Amino acid sequence: MHITIIGCGYVGMAAARHWRNQGWTVTGTTTTPDRVPQLEEVVHRVQVVRGDDARALHAILQGQQAVLLSIGAPHPSAYEKTYLDTARTLVDVLRGLPEIGYLLYTGSYSVYGDRGGAWITETTPATPANRNGEILHQTEQILLAAANDTLNVGILRLGGIYGPGRELDGILGWACGMTLSGDGSDFSNWVHLDDIVGALAFALKERLRGIYNLVGDEPLPRAELLKRLCEQRALPPVQWEGTSQGTKPYNARVSNQKLKAAGYELVHPQIRFESPG
Ligand SMILES: NC(=O)c1ccc[n+]([C@@H]2O[C@H](COP(=O)([O-])OP(=O)(O)OC[C@H]3O[C@@H](n4cnc5c(N)ncnc54)[C@H](OP(=O)(O)O)[C@@H]3O)[C@@H](O)[C@H]2O)c1
Repeated sequence: MHITIIGCGYVGMAAARHWRNQGWTVTGTTTTPDRVPQLEEVVHRVQVVRGDDARALHAILQGQQAVLLSIGAPHPSAYEKTYLDTARTLVDVLRGLPEIGYLLYTGSYSVYGDRGGAWITETTPATPANRNGEILHQTEQILLAAANDTLNVGILRLGGIYGPGRELDGILGWACGMTLSGDGSDFSNWVHLDDIVGALAFALKERLRGIYNLVGDEPLPRAELLKRLCEQRALPPVQWEGTSQGTKPYNARVSNQKLKAAGYELVHPQIRFESPG
């Protein structure tokens, strides 16, 4: 099998290693020529390409059976160019490549917006809390609309990503001993890299169609998450300044039942506090 990973970053590289070990022929893309040697260690073929370059994408995707789109905007002002321009270009290109049977995309649960900490499922309407959340939702819609008799489209809505090299300690540990605004009652949802790779592989194998949340079993209020993290590091706890105010763009408890019901078993259902290795 031949698969191309458009956006071979943290997630894309881990998925590439997995599929390569499974005997797949893997192509990975980057926009950064300096990353080519690093990617050559994990994929069979590296291409330097931007997602809005239709001609280059068409050439790369010849002879492929599956595509993983796992792009990430380099900064918040680049969301439209990164996500929407790539999705529109890719969908156009795929129309001329009917041998590609599966398109998989790593989306984000941020499309649900601020739900006041309520439980949500894939049937909960997306109500993004800001423009970039809207762009991510539009990206999903563009990709889903490309599905047809020959092309399956699967979307995993990821929680906050953590794992080796991106430990929670490094993402959140700065807060231990600090005073933060609000009361920390807003929820966040996380997913370990092992489960992203596992669920991508599962989705591809089962040709999952449509939207699936991909988070651990444990949505936690920020205060509880930071309490556990600071305790684990034997550092002073976070002090909270008062009541919670303003929009919390990720404040929801995301259900992973649909993916589990499809047959996926989480590797790390509970949050893991690993130290940077
Ligand atoms: N970070 C989180 O906690 C989180 C949470 C939920 C969902 N997600 C989603 O998960 C996905 C993967 O995240 P990640 O951490 O693996 O991202 P990442 O490490 O930042 O990698 C992103 C990849 O996208 C490539 N890219 C950026 N702009 C592009 C463009 N215009 N055209 C083509 N490729 C482009 C980058 O190219 P270079 O190689 O040149 O850098 C890089 O290879 C993203 O879609 C992100 O939205 C992330």
